[in-house]
Formats: sequence, structure tokens, C-alpha cells
Amino acid sequence: MSQPYWIARKGSALQGTLAIPGDKSVSHRAVMFAALADGVSRIEGFLEGEDTRATARIFAQMGVRFETPSPSQRIVHGVGVDGLTAPHEALDCGNAGTGMRLLAGLLAAQPFATVLVGDASLSRRPMRRITDPLARMGARIDTEADGTPPLRIHGGQPLQGIHYELPVASAQVKSAVLLAGLHAQGETTVVEPHPTRDYTERMLRAFGVDIDFQPGTARLRGGQRLRATDIVVPADFSSAAFFIVAASVIPGSQVRLRSVGLNPRRTGLLAALRLMGADIVEENPAEHGGEPVADLVVRHAPLHGVEIPVALVPDMIDEFPALFVAAAAAQGPTVVRGAAELRVKESDRLAAMATGLRTLGLRVDETDDGATLHPGPLGSGTIESHDDHRIAMAFAIAGQLSTGEVRINDVANVATSFPGFDRLAREAGFGLAGS
Ligand code: S3P
Repeated sequence: MSQPYWIARKGSALQGTLAIPGDKSVSHRAVMFAALADGVSRIEGFLEGEDTRATARIFAQMGVRFETPSPSQRIVHGVGVDGLTAPHEALDCGNAGTGMRLLAGLLAAQPFATVLVGDASLSRRPMRRITDPLARMGARIDTEADGTPPLRIHGGQPLQGIHYELPVASAQVKSAVLLAGLHAQGETTVVEPHPTRDYTERMLRAFGVDIDFQPGTARLRGGQRLRATDIVVPADFSSAAFFIVAASVIPGSQVRLRSVGLNPRRTGLLAALRLMGADIVEENPAEHGGEPVADLVVRHAPLHGVEIPVALVPDMIDEFPALFVAAAAAQGPTVVRGAAELRVKESDRLAAMATGLRTLGLRVDETDDGATLHPGPLGSGTIESHDDHRIAMAFAIAGQLSTGEVRINDVANVATSFPGFDRLAREAGFGLAGS
């Protein structure tokens, strides 16, 4: 079957008020914790993406009942921490690293065995970062010889709490350990080298779990139960990022992005773009389900290249594909360092962005943990998305700046995080045709 592609070319200045879909990280966790809770939870603003639907499907395979009163709503009939039933088949996490890594933590202490599989991209991603600490807690999980999925979780092992200092700043690893800790004997503490997104901690507390946390550490006692609650999912900052960058770099643009989640561990891109001279105003601040949200009003502004402060990297880890396009439109080079984690995302994002931008005529000097990007006019070319949703969307913006046409191959995975991106982009003013 031929893979869908896009042709991106200069459109018009971006205009309008845009509704961005629900947050992926929050939607995954909402489904998981509601499934494990005692009682019925309602989720509003659920991301109808392939990744988050895969997580819901997995819990349905383990006996959890979901109702979908309307798109982006879920009613979840929780079965309690000890109420999941053994699935008959392997559990398919699709493209979702968050799904697989958090589930591994959750399933490690279940009395039954499970197998977690994923698509081609997920099947290449490193899993020892979770299986190592989980094994130290007593779990038995097999990977392929090189530490990649499938994950074969033996189950039936009693787990011990752990004091774990994370070698990499990763919310997924932190969350896997905390979720195993919930089923373990004694206390589990996680210490991070740099604070990462704290949705697991905040949401466990919303579900009634007694958990201590502050930026950089989290601690909980095993053996606690979750109490059903209602969750309102904010709009995903990482999806909004593509329109923030596009409106910043396309002359004449002005857009309003409604009620975007502004958890400080997610908004490093705002700080980086402001350093580059972007014009982004936050209006109507509010709180949705304990998360700060605001409308973002973004106007085109001339950008200049900067050295991205290393301390911002974990707070914008998913935003580098978009940032690279902003840098391509800036005056003067932009330098990224301390971002080696980009090499183990849905694709090697440093290589994918460097190669794609070179194809369009830019000079990009790649290093092990970053790149220096030298801006210039963007020409035509064919870009490989490497089946990575964020690479595809980043090059859709690059196409708006191109003197010709940018063809982006294999865009189907955009539906993992941002179904309807191409329609919304066209409505806003993008020149973007589909296959
Ligand atoms: C996520 C954590 C980050 C991020 C991913 C979602 C999460 O991954 O890149 O898109 O929901 O916890 P790492 O934990 O690997 O940094």
C-alpha cells in the first residue's frame, strides 16, 4: 500500500482562532489511572489520537469498560489496582513510548504475564532504561538482546520499593518506576538529574494517592488504592508548538491558540522563541484539572539565532523539530547542545531534521548531542519523515517558507498525536496538499 504524503508550499499568512487537540501525556495517564481506580471516572478533552486510543484498547483487553459519549470524552469503569484480568493476546502500544514504558511499570507486579509490542519505530527504542530499575525492584521483564521491544513481562513477582536516581531526565522512566512502586512493598523514591514533566505525580494525587513531590524528586508508599475522579485534559502544548512556530515565521500571521496547557515542564519552547525575538502573548489564564492553561496569541516577528540554554532542553524535548524550523527562518546561527535524547525519540530527530534541512539547502553541522544550524533560503526537495509525526509536521512549516515545493513522505503517523493537523493547517492558511 502506498504511504500517504504531503506537498507543502507557500500558503497565506496564518489567521484565526485554532482549537488544538488534547494533551497526549495527560490522556495516556488519565486512561491508565482511571482504569486502575475504584469507581467511574470521566475524561473530558481526551486526545483521539492513535497512541492514546491504543492505551485505552489495551485496558479494554484487560477487562476495563469504556464508554465514548462523544469524541474526546471517555467514561471509564475502573476495576481497582487488583482488578485487571489477563489479556488473551499481546498488548499493542502502537507508536507510543509513553504507553509502553508506563504500562511496563504498571504490569510488572500483576499476577499474570503480558507481552507489550509496538510498531516499527517503537520496536527500535531503548527499554533497558525501564527494565533495569524494574528488575532491581524484583520484576522479570525480557527484551530483545539489544534492549528493544517486545517486552515480555513475567508478572507474579512481589516488588520491593526502590530509591532510584535516574541516569537520564525522563518522565517516562520516572513514571514507570513510580507506578511499579505503587504495587511494591515499602517506599519508592525517584530523583531526577533535571526536573521533568510531573503529570504522573499530579494525577496520582488527584486520584487520591498520597505522594510527595517537588521538582526533581517524587516519593510514594506502595499498596495504595486510587479513587475515581474526573479529568479535564488541556490542549497539547507540543501540538500547539507547530502553529506557534508557523505563525512566528510566516509574515503577516496572527493566530490565537485556545486554552493551551502551560505546565512549566513543557514550555521551554516559549522561552527559547522569546529569546529569539518571538511575539507570543498569554491571555485568559485559567486552570484545567489542576494544570495552568492560557490562550496564546502569536504574531509574526523577525527571529534571530541563539544558543539554546542547555537547562531548557528537558522542558522542550518534544519541540526540537519545530524549533529547528524557527531557527531556519532566523537571522544568524542557532546552536543546540545537551540534546542527545533526541536520537532515541520516534526517530533520530537530530539526524532527521539535519538531513531534511540540508535537502532543502541549509548548512547544518550535527554533533553527538546537538547541531548548529545556519539559516538561509529554503528550496524544494523530498523529505523522509522516518514515520515520525513531529518531523512530518515540522517540514509542513518548512514548506511554507520554501521557494518551491516540499514533499513529505510517510505522514500517516501524524495521527498518533495530532489527527486533523493537515485540515487545521489548511484552514489557518498553510499551503498543504495530501496524497
Ligand atoms: C513523555 C515524556 C517524554 C516525551 C514524550 C512524552 C511522557 O519522553 O518526549 O513525548 O508523557 O512522560 P522521555 O521520558 O523519554 O523524555
